Amino acid sequence: MQYDNPVNYGYFDDKMREYVITRPDTPYPWINYLGCDDFYGLFSNTSGGYCFYRDARMLRLTRYRYNNAPADAGGRYFYICDSSGESKDIWSPSWMPMKSKLDRYECRHGLGYSRISSARNGLFFSQLSFVPLKDNCEIHKITLCNESGTEKNIDMFSFVEFCLWNANDDMTNFQRNYSIGEVEIEGSAIYHKTEYRERRNHYAVWAVNVPVAGFDTDRETFLGLYNGFDHPQTVFTGTANNSIASGWAPIGSHHIKVPLKPGESKTFVFVLGYCENSSDQKWESLYVINKKPAHALLEKYHSEEAADTALAELKEYWDKLLSRFSMQTDDKTLGRMVNVWNQYQCMVTFNMSRSASYFESGIGRGMGFRDSNQDLLGFVHLVPERARTRILDIAATQLPDGSAYHQYQPLTKRGNNDIGSGFNDDPLWLICGVAAYIKETGDYSILDEQVPFDNDETLSDSLFIHLKRSFDFTLNNLGPHGLPLIGRADWNDCLNLNCFSKTPGESFQTTANYESGIAESVLIAGIFTFVGPDYAEICRRTNRKEEAERADKAITDMIKTINTHGWDGNWFLRAYDAMGKKIGSHECEDGQIFIESNGFAVMAGIGINDGRAVTALNAVKEKLDTPYGIVLQQPAYKEYHLELGEISSYPPGYKENAGIFCHNNPWITIAETRIGRGERAFETYKKICPAYREEDSRLRRVEPYAYAQMVAGKDAPRFGEAKNSWLTGTAAWAFVSISQYILGIRPVYDGLLIDPCIPPGMKSFSITRYFRGAVYKITIDNTAGVEKGIGSITMDGKPLDNVILPPKDQGSIHEVLVVMGL
Ligand code: GLC
Ligand code: GLC
Repeated sequence: MQYDNPVNYGYFDDKMREYVITRPDTPYPWINYLGCDDFYGLFSNTSGGYCFYRDARMLRLTRYRYNNAPADAGGRYFYICDSSGESKDIWSPSWMPMKSKLDRYECRHGLGYSRISSARNGLFFSQLSFVPLKDNCEIHKITLCNESGTEKNIDMFSFVEFCLWNANDDMTNFQRNYSIGEVEIEGSAIYHKTEYRERRNHYAVWAVNVPVAGFDTDRETFLGLYNGFDHPQTVFTGTANNSIASGWAPIGSHHIKVPLKPGESKTFVFVLGYCENSSDQKWESLYVINKKPAHALLEKYHSEEAADTALAELKEYWDKLLSRFSMQTDDKTLGRMVNVWNQYQCMVTFNMSRSASYFESGIGRGMGFRDSNQDLLGFVHLVPERARTRILDIAATQLPDGSAYHQYQPLTKRGNNDIGSGFNDDPLWLICGVAAYIKETGDYSILDEQVPFDNDETLSDSLFIHLKRSFDFTLNNLGPHGLPLIGRADWNDCLNLNCFSKTPGESFQTTANYESGIAESVLIAGIFTFVGPDYAEICRRTNRKEEAERADKAITDMIKTINTHGWDGNWFLRAYDAMGKKIGSHECEDGQIFIESNGFAVMAGIGINDGRAVTALNAVKEKLDTPYGIVLQQPAYKEYHLELGEISSYPPGYKENAGIFCHNNPWITIAETRIGRGERAFETYKKICPAYREEDSRLRRVEPYAYAQMVAGKDAPRFGEAKNSWLTGTAAWAFVSISQYILGIRPVYDGLLIDPCIPPGMKSFSITRYFRGAVYKITIDNTAGVEKGIGSITMDGKPLDNVILPPKDQGSIHEVLVVMGL
């Protein structure tokens, strides 16, 4: 075993593409995601977490207690009662919930699976957990092995606690919930069927592939009323009670007797599945549910071999996906992020949006319009077909005037009325997402798809028209300086310039107590000038010449406006408030300079010719940079500002109030590549990159293999501590910044643009890129030690006269040599 980066909590196993956690008491639960399609599980390094089918709020199979003490209570637990010694030895092989002392412990988080192994007093335990590709279930393959010299008599108890499906009701409506829980038992299968007698046509099953000695389904009977998960009465007595839950809290526990000779091992396959019946097939007889779909599922995973095959399929699936973009480099840390963990997280954010993590409760947010469009940017190269479907789903929640529901519900795909619309940056992200899809695939046919507005089929029009309305929405909503009106907020959800809330608890995002009609956003102007050219280009390429010209002119005008009214002398302003006062100006007391508008303006190319871009990025470096990333603004707001909203509600240094809001750091990275500063670009990339921060795990606290939304900024007492890992737009933008702008392999309309911008010390690397059906093996030679610039490119031995690799035949493979130079 190689500890090439020895830290206290674990290490990357690059060959296996696993992160190996070597002690269970990580500074925060370090989780993994199981599942890639409809069925998902969150799985921590101590087997905590929960699973759900498609929607973390509406169809949750198992219960999880957020914000609990101790942290991470609830999961798929196995308890061991070893009666071979003088007294019974009772322990939790995943450490939690009993916090048992273990002689060995390891948790390997891999791509869509996790494996916990541990040992105590000569008994080895291993738990392999994953969601197979084609079925709606979690598989937990458990192996026990007697490593001692004497015979062992083990009683093993499984444990899951069922959620009564709707996770929100489950945590709130106890006067009802305590009376509705229902289960059924058949052999070794425990069925959870709460609400099935009424409107649900689904149930859960928790089963094991061997006969059981007994079972429990009533929590109180299993644990004892005043006991926690760390002291289950039943395990201590050693015998299951065959309890049948009726109301209260239904659980599933199997009791299995496992006699083990020295050296002997036994394996069990547990399945936790979701099953549906059509409404006329719900019952076998009165009160007896139709178990056909469950029987089929359990039959399929009855053997250890079947579980192994399903795991092998999962691994093959990931091998294939990750082969679409892979890099060879001497920098191991860079390699593991680019090749594995960043792309993996892009898949997770695409699947989850911002719904379920250890910081997002799974009941709050649906799919965000802007978030999901941005998530596409890091995902589209992996499964373009799914990106296409997602785009059409998102676009269907756009409103006829071009604005958009800020969020939609994944099950119904309808816009969420509670939060509504009015976030004026939202529409532009649709152009950004569609442009990324077309550049990746060359598939312009998506523009002709008929897509409803406001989910109303009678209001359907082509996706192209959706883009046009997005573009025009900005132009139709300009303020006194000609800059876009901000509405409820722009990308920064917490810059609520029309909110003016004095009432505790009032939502900053949906309240507008003073709609001035004049608060403007320089960031939206920047986004408009960044994505607008894609709209114009799409018009040109689909023979809409006049529309392209109109768009070009609007963009030129907006650039002028930014230069006239959005420049503060040394950096770009952030906004104008409801009184027309500047935000993000040296004239302000706090909040003098912001990261977002500076990133986007330079990304759009503004100021590159007149020196403003360099000036602005130098100011960002001087005023906002820290060893852990770039903070959102400075100085932090010390007081609550009625005219600014939520941003000033956070204590200085946290979240949008001068936290390191990682999502926007890659914008600076990209901006730096636009002005050719490869060294600085890579430096900003590394600062927020979890693998480069692995040695700070104690301070950082969250997973070293996943980006976090926020790291506490320099004004915060806990400067450097990260929060909200996994579900963040950082994943997609970080991948865009490294793959397209630093390494410089960028899909454009005509092919793959080669445009690296790297530190001069990065002398060579190569990339294998699958693109529109062909494979390009690209070697970059930077013996010259430049930051940017291409001396020559040859493809299959022939010199290319431009820097774009053209699309090639399906299945063909091409060798590309890029020599950098001035
Ligand atoms: C969160 C939101 C995202 C927003 C960002 C900044 O990440 O999901 O929509 O842009 O915060 O406020
Ligand atoms: C975004 C922001 C967060 C804010 C929330 C409001 O997620 O990051 O700070 O509280 O939006 O919904």
